[in-house]
Amino acid sequence: MLQGDNRMKKIAVFASGSGSNYQAIIDAIKTGKLKASVELLVCDQPKAYVLDRAKSEQTPTFQFEPKTYGSKEEFEKEIVSELRKYDVEFLILAGYMRLIGPTLLKEFSNRIINIHPSLLPSFPGKNAIGQAFQAGVKVTGVTVHFVDEGMDTGPIIAQQALVIDQDDTEETLAEKIHEIEHELYPETIQSLFEQLFVKKEEVTP
Ligand code: GAR
Repeated sequence: MLQGDNRMKKIAVFASGSGSNYQAIIDAIKTGKLKASVELLVCDQPKAYVLDRAKSEQTPTFQFEPKTYGSKEEFEKEIVSELRKYDVEFLILAGYMRLIGPTLLKEFSNRIINIHPSLLPSFPGKNAIGQAFQAGVKVTGVTVHFVDEGMDTGPIIAQQALVIDQDDTEETLAEKIHEIEHELYPETIQSLFEQLFVKKEEVTP
């Protein structure tokens, strides 16, 4: 028998910067829109503002400095062992500016999600908002997708488009994009969780 899996999902958020998307996820959990618990914040930047946010929200953090490790495999192995301590089920990338390597991809196959501030496959990589603005496109937006080994590649889960106004500056465009992200990301994660089904074995008494 197939049954909906309504358990709270245990997630880890990965971030490198301000963490406004981490905050949006926390806020959506508080208001009951997202049925999840943030078990761990993983951060690769010692001075990132997201660390202050995590402290205020009492989210345990794993902060590491990639350059102190011999390889990506080495630090990802340590991340995996931290994630296991908290029984984390899904990895939610929220401005984590680093490619996910084979160690994490293998351990969390199809359970790593990313948000990107453009309509992928246009404008992958860094400064996607600036790239779109400078290219003079009339429409841009936000993409939520599963993570694979590429840079902002992987199957697309959701997209929301935004028309760039004539009087938009790069700053006003960034504000509008972030506003969309903060709604779209928690919403998309929740609907993804609702679509997950577990197979329950029929138990013969
Ligand atoms: C967000 O706009 C996110 O889409 C982007 O980084 C920003 C992080 O903001 N991610 C990427 O560009 C991934 N390639 P935040 O720290 O305020 O959440």
